[in-house]
Amino acid sequence: ENAALLKAIIQNAIDGIITIDERGLIETINPAACTLFNYAPEEVVGKNISYLMPPPDRTQHDEYIRRYQHTGVPHIIGIGREVTGLRKDGTTFPFRLGVSEVAYSGRKIYTGFIHDLSRQKEAEEQLKEYA
Ligand code: HEM
Repeated sequence: ENAALLKAIIQNAIDGIITIDERGLIETINPAACTLFNYAPEEVVGKNISYLMPPPDRTQHDEYIRRYQHTGVPHIIGIGREVTGLRKDGTTFPFRLGVSEVAYSGRKIYTGFIHDLSRQKEAEEQLKEYA
């Protein structure tokens, strides 16, 4: 069935996938995202997405969402951005974030796609050293 297929795709995706509600609270997180941030799903579901990022974004993310909801002007939705994630152990890592807005059973949710850039960034840094 279609729902089961979708679930299998999300569960096995290489990239992290997180969905949040209109307030920014985490509703679902796939295994790849759990591995990247080093949390079990039950540790983060229900928490604000800002829990997974360092300052200054951490203190401003609610405002980013509110501003978008009031102005309709996206800064990441449909564009993408390189941002910094905060793991459970306090370390950070760079990733490419893609966000889309989804109308789902009469309400609005946001889905975030997380593509880890740590290895690519490390390689770039090493190349700079030899340049
Ligand atoms: C907006 C950072 C994760 C949903 C933004 C902006 C930044 C940001 C910098 C816009 C700033 C501006 O207005 O110029 C981050 C960081 C994340 C993260 C550092 C690391 C965990 C997520 C995830 C989702 C999400 C996983 C969705 C599941 C949104 C939404 C907006 C937004 C809905 C407002 C719409 C827009 O500006 O296009 N975020 N974000 N964010 N983010 Fe995040």
